[in-house]
Amino acid sequence: MCGIVGFAGAQPAAPILLDGLKKLEYRGYDSAGIAVQDGGLISVVKTRGVIKNLCDKTDNGSTLSGTSGIGHTRWATHGAPDDVNAHPHVSNDGMFAVVHNGIIENFAVLKDELEKKGYRFESQTDTEIVANLLDLYYKGDLLEAVMKTVSRLDGSYSLGVLCAEHPGKIVAVREKSPLILGVGVKENYFASDVTALVAHTRNVIYLDDGEVAVLTADSIDIYNASGKKIEKSTSRVIWDIEAAEKGGYEHFMLKEIMEQPRAILSTLEPRIKDGRIVLDDIPDSYFDGVQRIIITACGSAYYAGCVGRYVIEKLCRIPVTVELASELRYHDPIIDENTLLIVISQSGETADTIAALRECKERGAKSLAIVNVVGSTIARLADYRIYTWAGPEIAVATTKGYTTQVAVLGLFAVFAADKLGRITKERYAELIGELLKLPSKVQRAVDLNSHISYLAKRYASHRDVFFIGRNIDYAVALEGSLKLKEISYIFSEPYAAGELKHGPIALIEQDTLVITLCCYDELFEKTLSNIEQVKARGATVLAVAHEGNGKIFHVADDAVFVPDSEPLFAAVPEIIPLQLFAYYIAKENGCDIDKPKNLAKSVTVE
Ligand code: F6R
Repeated sequence: MCGIVGFAGAQPAAPILLDGLKKLEYRGYDSAGIAVQDGGLISVVKTRGVIKNLCDKTDNGSTLSGTSGIGHTRWATHGAPDDVNAHPHVSNDGMFAVVHNGIIENFAVLKDELEKKGYRFESQTDTEIVANLLDLYYKGDLLEAVMKTVSRLDGSYSLGVLCAEHPGKIVAVREKSPLILGVGVKENYFASDVTALVAHTRNVIYLDDGEVAVLTADSIDIYNASGKKIEKSTSRVIWDIEAAEKGGYEHFMLKEIMEQPRAILSTLEPRIKDGRIVLDDIPDSYFDGVQRIIITACGSAYYAGCVGRYVIEKLCRIPVTVELASELRYHDPIIDENTLLIVISQSGETADTIAALRECKERGAKSLAIVNVVGSTIARLADYRIYTWAGPEIAVATTKGYTTQVAVLGLFAVFAADKLGRITKERYAELIGELLKLPSKVQRAVDLNSHISYLAKRYASHRDVFFIGRNIDYAVALEGSLKLKEISYIFSEPYAAGELKHGPIALIEQDTLVITLCCYDELFEKTLSNIEQVKARGATVLAVAHEGNGKIFHVADDAVFVPDSEPLFAAVPEIIPLQLFAYYIAKENGCDIDKPKNLAKSVTVE
């Protein structure tokens, strides 16, 4: 979704802003723009389409002089994705330029009020009212104008502000939408995403809701919502710039698929010390009184939660429900202090997941976040957090984000089962051994790359695909289906194999492709009968099974074999061929794999 960058220093700002915007492209956007301050004048260039258009329009930034500025990638919410609605937006008299992420909920009322005072609006955006409100409240004191403006805004937003009368100064505001300050040497930055900062500095300050920061080349002053100056600590980002670049791969998605063995190793290994699981700072008493667990998330993170439900219930014998965050937040959930809420999020900034977490916390739930981005809103809101050390995930479709979440859920289930006294010492040791084998098993699944690329050529023309499975295989089917539809735009439907006969089998006809997941050995024979049922109606079956499962060849048209695993952890290697399959089908069909249409990496609006 939208991205923000800001720079104040001694070098020309425009090339730095353009470079920062390029790093944010992966988030998804449809227009972009920059504003640079020079000698009491603000110059703005913005355009529909890709950053390259902006680079062409400004000769890579060289046509704009000035050493402080702000930039934006816009993912349209209010108004069409065109040049006029692109950010930055400027106040009527050109005094202020503003970039904005999120939504100003009371913008219609404010617009009306400003119109009555004589302000005119060119765009359909909610952002333009911010520029004009700043102008209304500005009497020479920039901070005062920002504070007064912010006090009038409802909603979740982050802002970057430039004022013509304050050369060298940029202002950042955070309210329920991420904004991070980058601390450099004789230059400072802000950005909505750390990937836009790491090329310049790894020293960052995470702003909290309600905070305002005023940056110049030499100073960063931060104020709380009451306008009181506060001190905040600087954190060090451990991601390096290479991690956020393609490193020779054609797409980020393929690179990230290939990185999974390492990502899972980095996530699991440091937490297993001398045969015991050590989960960061979670105290032993944390599970006292927990009677039920609710897992909440959106999209693939929700599907990771669906795997987690089976694993946690099986090992901990505690009831677990998995709820879509966008539903949980609105159905008046029954929650108390005996409920443990597990929130899962790669970005840590998904609006619905944040809202569900807030809602459940208010109702007394304990909260644990499984999150990839350090210092993100979800990481900071939850009582405790377990980071997935997947590194930056740039492709819109998650891969290593998902598998590291599933791995952490397995780790957590074993940890909790032990704390609750639900598993024997022997089983505990056995499961830890199995967790530690996951990186090498995933490596063997990743090595199927060329075989899957060959299969994808064979199946690329199918337009209706079913994914079926039982138990954990069903949870994997949900994610496999989402991967295929989101990047290849092929319609696919995930179904619990036993449910097919209750309706959807009516859709199975000659050559319908049914991808059948057969790694949950306990229910293999049952799944086999479901394969027979779809075969009898003419379907083509591609099965994913464990190595050595020769039986599958009697029924399936094609099979992919992944390493045999402890059934509770089988989802991790099992999803890899489905990620690769989606990737190669999308490639065969000429799709924009890293930036699928209509999608954004971090869904920061409801
Ligand atoms: C799909 C995908 C999305 C995200 C979802 C939640 O490939 O990436 O479905 O899983 O938007 O995002 P996070 O995990 O950042 O909360």
